[in-house]
Amino acid sequence: MISATIPAPPSPWTTPHPSPPPTYSPQLSFPPPEDIVPTVSRLHDIYSSPDLPHQTARWNGLVARFKALYDRPMTFVARAPGRVNLIGEHIDYSWFPVLPMATVHDVLVAVCVLPENDPSTDGRIILSNVSSSKYPTRVFNTHDFQDPFFEINTTTTDLDWSVYFLAGLKGALMFSKLCSSETSPLPTMRILVDGEIPPRAGLSASSALVCSALLAVLAATTTSAIEKSFLVNSSVISERVLGVNSGGMDQAASVFGVLDHALLVDFRPLVTAKPVRVLDTVPPLCFVLANSLIVAANRAETGPDTYNVRVVETVLAAEILARKYGVGRLEIRDGFGGTLRGFYDRVCDKEDWTMGDREAEERAVREVVRRVQETFDKDQYSLDEVAQMMEQKTEDMVRKYMTRFPIRAKFLNLRDRSIHVIEESFRVKCFSSLLASSTNHLRTLSASESRPYFEALGGLMNASQASCANLFECTCPEIDELTQIAQRYGAAGSRMTGTGWGGCTLSLVRADRVGDVIEGLKKEYYAVRYPELSPSQLEQAVFAIRPGNGTVLAKINAV
Ligand code: GLA
Repeated sequence: MISATIPAPPSPWTTPHPSPPPTYSPQLSFPPPEDIVPTVSRLHDIYSSPDLPHQTARWNGLVARFKALYDRPMTFVARAPGRVNLIGEHIDYSWFPVLPMATVHDVLVAVCVLPENDPSTDGRIILSNVSSSKYPTRVFNTHDFQDPFFEINTTTTDLDWSVYFLAGLKGALMFSKLCSSETSPLPTMRILVDGEIPPRAGLSASSALVCSALLAVLAATTTSAIEKSFLVNSSVISERVLGVNSGGMDQAASVFGVLDHALLVDFRPLVTAKPVRVLDTVPPLCFVLANSLIVAANRAETGPDTYNVRVVETVLAAEILARKYGVGRLEIRDGFGGTLRGFYDRVCDKEDWTMGDREAEERAVREVVRRVQETFDKDQYSLDEVAQMMEQKTEDMVRKYMTRFPIRAKFLNLRDRSIHVIEESFRVKCFSSLLASSTNHLRTLSASESRPYFEALGGLMNASQASCANLFECTCPEIDELTQIAQRYGAAGSRMTGTGWGGCTLSLVRADRVGDVIEGLKKEYYAVRYPELSPSQLEQAVFAIRPGNGTVLAKINAV
């Protein structure tokens, strides 16, 4: 049995040849079934009725393609969805809860494991993609992976698609050894990948591929049940080999996804996801996704100027604040540094503030923001100035915080980033409690009586967008424009979603306004900026989206 309570995983990516992992003593308690990655045998267990016709055709195509390509049937499919974040942007790596949902769009990794005695068993892993012209076939030898700490070449900026698969494979080999005694050696495998998550749109296509590859290799090498939290944690760490110090929201949304539910994901003390229903309201809450078609900050190329800088800014801010206000040493996230949640919680404890209601939380947020402003009186600090506040030499600070994940920054903004994180975390609390109360109450309210709920939820989304644009500076003009158009055409709220600096917006819309919002976006954004898009490309760029199910292992041979 693979354990949910993984001992803090070693960071294999920082030391090329770390000492062998500690031995693991199996746990005697068995986790409840809902904590295990499900194995399903029918598409009904994955998709809801409106998606079944398309998915049935797609899976039938995959089954046939696999057979034609490898002259044998696939044995199983590891399926992981993408994610859309409702609210709580760039706060997961500060350990604050976030509210994403899994998408219906997913990555399928179809696998056939060749038995030892099969004449075709040749010690090779053949990795193909249904979009073979875009993602060419790659062939690997299993003996190259005997040492689970094998190197993945990530030195080029334009990463080959197969590195995401290799990151998952590496994670599976490493963590299964650490956590299960029942693993078998990596077998000969034939693999066919089919991804429907638009790449580089900030919808976590890469996390879904890493996660499904990891699950596929685990399923091929162990018969043990796989715990969801194990899959989340190992996927997060596996993906870091690709150079981004990400938080865990994407993997949690993908693994824990529940049809028609958003997920309140918390990271402390363990990663957990509480489903919050979003669709059974009257009138229903609908979400419209619009892809700006500007490439979201992507890992290898732009991470060092964008995402990775924000992580460092928030970590250094937390550590400086903790020192200044004497709250003690902060708990370190993943061997990297303290977090703003650590600081926030310590302040609340130290001041002995009684929390639990909205007013108390709001007071605490205001006070912590005041301390941030008191500490950082300008928005730009040079590295030398930050090092001085950290009471360290600049080169020591750079070595500790800015080399494990590459950074290209001469100045850091500790104040605005921290204010965004603290206030955004409060917006998540407000949004999720409104959602929980609205799903209970809206059923009995008329459309006009329910308006305040929509306005309150939408207002929080708009405030989040403004904060991402002005304080966290992780949007771009096209994203800002999309959110404004959506609001003009009737969205209750609209904001960037995901990594940012491009990618998609998410708008909260009443069911009766969905058509208007989509038409408005088509007319004012796509027709102006991308007049060359075909109708089917437009359908893929802007559409209504519902929360989908999470990661599964599927044993479906004929659909
Ligand atoms: C990326 C990261 C997540 C999260 C979001 C921003 O998707 O992988 O961990 O930080 O950006 O909210």
